[in-house]
Amino acid sequence: ALSTLPRDLISLGDYSAEQIGALVESAADFKRKTKYEGQAFHPDEPLKGKTIAMLFSKRSTRTRVASESSIAYLGGHAMFLGKDDIQLGVNESLRDSAQVISSMVDGIFARVGAHEEITTLAQHSTVPVVNALCDANHPTQILADLLTIWEVFGERQKGSLFDVLKGLNVAWIGDSNNIVYEMLAAMPKCGMNMSVCTPSKYPIPEPIRQRAALDAEAASATVSYCHDPVAAVRGADIIVTDTWVSMGQEAEKAQRMVDFDGYQVSMDLAAKGNANKDWIFMHCLPRKPEEVTDEVFYSDRSVVFQEAENRKWTILAAFNALFSKK
Ligand code: CP
Ligand code: NVA
Repeated sequence: ALSTLPRDLISLGDYSAEQIGALVESAADFKRKTKYEGQAFHPDEPLKGKTIAMLFSKRSTRTRVASESSIAYLGGHAMFLGKDDIQLGVNESLRDSAQVISSMVDGIFARVGAHEEITTLAQHSTVPVVNALCDANHPTQILADLLTIWEVFGERQKGSLFDVLKGLNVAWIGDSNNIVYEMLAAMPKCGMNMSVCTPSKYPIPEPIRQRAALDAEAASATVSYCHDPVAAVRGADIIVTDTWVSMGQEAEKAQRMVDFDGYQVSMDLAAKGNANKDWIFMHCLPRKPEEVTDEVFYSDRSVVFQEAENRKWTILAAFNALFSKK
């Protein structure tokens, strides 16, 4: 399925379950070869002589470190262009930037604000474009989450990727944002059940629900929505959250602290709601204390640092598959 991937990776919603699975399996291979078998770089140097432009109009730790180091591993050159370097969409149109930059490089990895910015870049780029986060999607994050879930539950069940993923219950307790949208775009089609809890002021947009419902039906999974965190974690194998204040929403912080009252993930919440005995906690990071207690965040149930490391292996797999094409 790796050879059938679309040119770009804007959202996992554009990929089939088989294509998503092929990337996750490729990431697991890279992790084994590199981390456990000591392969320092890709022997074929698939990005040799190639430059990947990294257009970041927002800050990043994990995504930047994972991508720059992956490009080095693949034998290519990473060109980081931060918001002060090219002022994406400020000094000239995105269309013009896409045309100019893609005429000189072999791939674009871009972190932008509005979803239209990433689609405009892709539309006018002559080289593959991978989304490093926009307000609607974060595909490389959810690839890492799927690898992490496979590792954790596969360790317990010893199964192939989809055998492990199918039927797991994922509870989202948090904002209506890019992370849960991307989860809804990927997890139901992989056969995972989702219980999504956001404050009523922050509903999940209808088109996202409709897509998720269709995907879930086709994969015999379920997706449900509510505004009660206790009800949402019932039977959960995995409890996931994210910051209540995403990048660009800083001015809304005080209001959001009020709106998300009662949404902090805690041992007490999981117990009250009857999460499954072996539930785990996930978070894309960076984390703020209000959305999850230290007791959960630093507990054995928390796989957040494994999840963060898996950004590396999944970005490596995605770049190898998408940027090394001739
Ligand atoms: N999870 C994530 O994308 O982290 P960064 O913002 O640090 O890249
Ligand atoms: N929802 C967060 C994710 C950061 C990786 C944000 O958009 O800032």
